[in-house]
Amino acid sequence: MRALSGIKPTGELHLGNYFGAMKQHLELQYECEGFYFIANYHSMTSVKDAEFLRQLTRNVAVDYLAMGLDPGRVNLFRQSDVPEVTELTWILACVTGKGLLDRATTYKDYQAKGLTPNMGVYCYPLLMAADILIYRSDIVPVGKDQLQHIEFTQDMATYFNETYRPVFKRPEPRLNESPVVPGIDGQKMSKSYGNHIELFGEAKAVRKKIMSIKTDSTPVEAPKEPGQCNVYALIKLLATPEETAEWDRRYRAGGLGYGAAKKRLAELYEERFGSGREARTQWAARPEEVEDILRAGGRKARAVAQELMAEVRDACGIVRAADE
Ligand code: ADP
Ligand code: TRP
Repeated sequence: MRALSGIKPTGELHLGNYFGAMKQHLELQYECEGFYFIANYHSMTSVKDAEFLRQLTRNVAVDYLAMGLDPGRVNLFRQSDVPEVTELTWILACVTGKGLLDRATTYKDYQAKGLTPNMGVYCYPLLMAADILIYRSDIVPVGKDQLQHIEFTQDMATYFNETYRPVFKRPEPRLNESPVVPGIDGQKMSKSYGNHIELFGEAKAVRKKIMSIKTDSTPVEAPKEPGQCNVYALIKLLATPEETAEWDRRYRAGGLGYGAAKKRLAELYEERFGSGREARTQWAARPEEVEDILRAGGRKARAVAQELMAEVRDACGIVRAADE
């Protein structure tokens, strides 16, 4: 079974990205054949600085390797190392009605805010469907926010298969059970809200952020409702079920200051991510090795894509000298 997912390089990874996406990717490497790529073409809808995009692209690779992605198991590659994906995007555009893309939530969000998106934002679901279909992916591990894109992909596969002949496999989403991870202000954790806790943050700075997590003003002696506390929500993600149950009991019993919970959260963060920070420094110091991993992954992925594209072109009557 082949699992495919794309990671858009747009900035420093945070706990929301880890629990919402990366953790599942890392776990799946032991169950499936993994194809994970850095979606640098997708980032172009918002990142307009060439050097910054190059840097973000490298960073994603280093982040995943530091967190334990095993390049011996998983194909890690850049989206742009398989240029056929942009060709397939066009072909899918020609069998997809405009109405489908009009319904995309990301596009509708732009409109609701009175913003005019570029055509990259509008066509984003086409490129994403091409990413998925070109590798004959069986499952696509994503967060809930990406579900609509997978449904669109299924629709586009059907449009093509019905217009020409059955070439594409129907991919299925694999949703993780992670809830939305709250940021230090209680809203959804996001880079764009500036409320995030970085995955590879410097220990002292992260600790300071954790100590500043917004809590209510219930007095120390009073019982507290764990379900309403941002600190507890993060402890729950990092602690064992036994320890989480103990925190639940302590919250409800009263006599617990939020400071104690924050201190423990900082320790849990360090236990889970401290070694990743070290590993990251080491991977970042070996850019040639990272480049070799990406190239090798890209070559394997491209071979799959080229075979599929020969079938696609044949099905729709596109003749190219290279395929004869
Ligand atoms: P950001 O909002 O910081 O820009 P992205 O949109 O780049 O993050 O998120 C990449 C992926 O990480 C998303 O598809 C989603 O699955 C996951 N993710 C991001 N933030 C959270 C969060 N707060 N809780 C759960 N998952 C998240
Ligand atoms: N749209 C995804 C995100 O914003 C990234 C992505 C691009 C992707 N292509 C994909 C995810 C293909 C899964 C499969 O996080």
